[in-house]
Amino acid sequence: MERTEKLCALSAPLLAWYDKNKRDLPWRLDNSPYRVWVSEIMLQQTRVEAAKEHYIRFLRELPTVSALAACPEDKLLKLWEGLGYYSRAKNMQKAAREIVSRGGFPDTAEELEKLPGVGKYTAGAIASISFGKPSPAVDGNVVRVLSRILGDAEPQEILRGRYFAELVPAYPQGRCGDFTQSLMELGALICLPASPKCLLCPVCGICETKSDALPEKKEKPARKETDMTVFVFKNEGGIWLKKRESGVLSGLAEFYNTEEKLSAAQAERFLCGAGLQNVTLKRAGTHKHVFTHLVWHMTAYIAETDEDVAALPAFSSLRFYAKKEAEESVSIPSAFRWGLKYI
Ligand code: ADE
Repeated sequence: MERTEKLCALSAPLLAWYDKNKRDLPWRLDNSPYRVWVSEIMLQQTRVEAAKEHYIRFLRELPTVSALAACPEDKLLKLWEGLGYYSRAKNMQKAAREIVSRGGFPDTAEELEKLPGVGKYTAGAIASISFGKPSPAVDGNVVRVLSRILGDAEPQEILRGRYFAELVPAYPQGRCGDFTQSLMELGALICLPASPKCLLCPVCGICETKSDALPEKKEKPARKETDMTVFVFKNEGGIWLKKRESGVLSGLAEFYNTEEKLSAAQAERFLCGAGLQNVTLKRAGTHKHVFTHLVWHMTAYIAETDEDVAALPAFSSLRFYAKKEAEESVSIPSAFRWGLKYI
């Protein structure tokens, strides 16, 4: 069978399998573009299990695109807490404002892709699932599935581009959204990265690989390693936090930190030099946080004091939060959440 024929032979067995085996996922209850969009953005960097709860909470708080457009940024970031890659939430809000001002969602992949934060994958997912268009949505999972079926050994990025074009004629009339989701579902349940369940696969008969031999493994990106010292300033009633000004996690809350590793004696000297007289410093271990291109090695200290820390010029960017407020209404990214246990 040649490639196009193979791709066109997928939809019948895949859809039959999907109808019987698809998971009950909250975003499958309603195909409206807003809901599909929110789910696809969440699922880009977050596992299905972790995304489920966030998805339900997000839609309860922001049930429509206009609610998202009008949401205060702090509340939005709080709803995104734990999902990481916060620029996704900020871009969604920009896009929501454009959608509201143009009077609704565009209904083609080409137009959807012009929205902030909407790439070719998300545009294809919304166009096919919500608008029934034959628009492929090819992510890493779909590349894995198709490269095995077709026996393609080229680098994944090249294959991804090719599959967007090659899949179009394989879309079955009337079930475009289900076809998109059946490819994702096969990748999630059967065509697994390390040990694919080929015996259970509905398209094993036409698969060239029948193993985990493809796709070619990508080299892991080299990550920049940074040493940091983090001070959790606290008193009886709460903690001091600041807003991150730039770089990774910008706009989110953080504890006061410096980009160097300080010993307990150096940390003590640093606080004293900044004018803090009355402080008890305790080591709070080391904490590692891995981002896509970056690793933070944080040496942590709890700095307990009854002085007004933010009144000192060195710490004027800090703001005091009562315990309850820090826990319930500030968005503290995962990289710093270890600090909350010291409140
Ligand atoms: N991963 C990405 N999009 C998905 C979807 N719609 N359903 C399940 N897993 C997914």
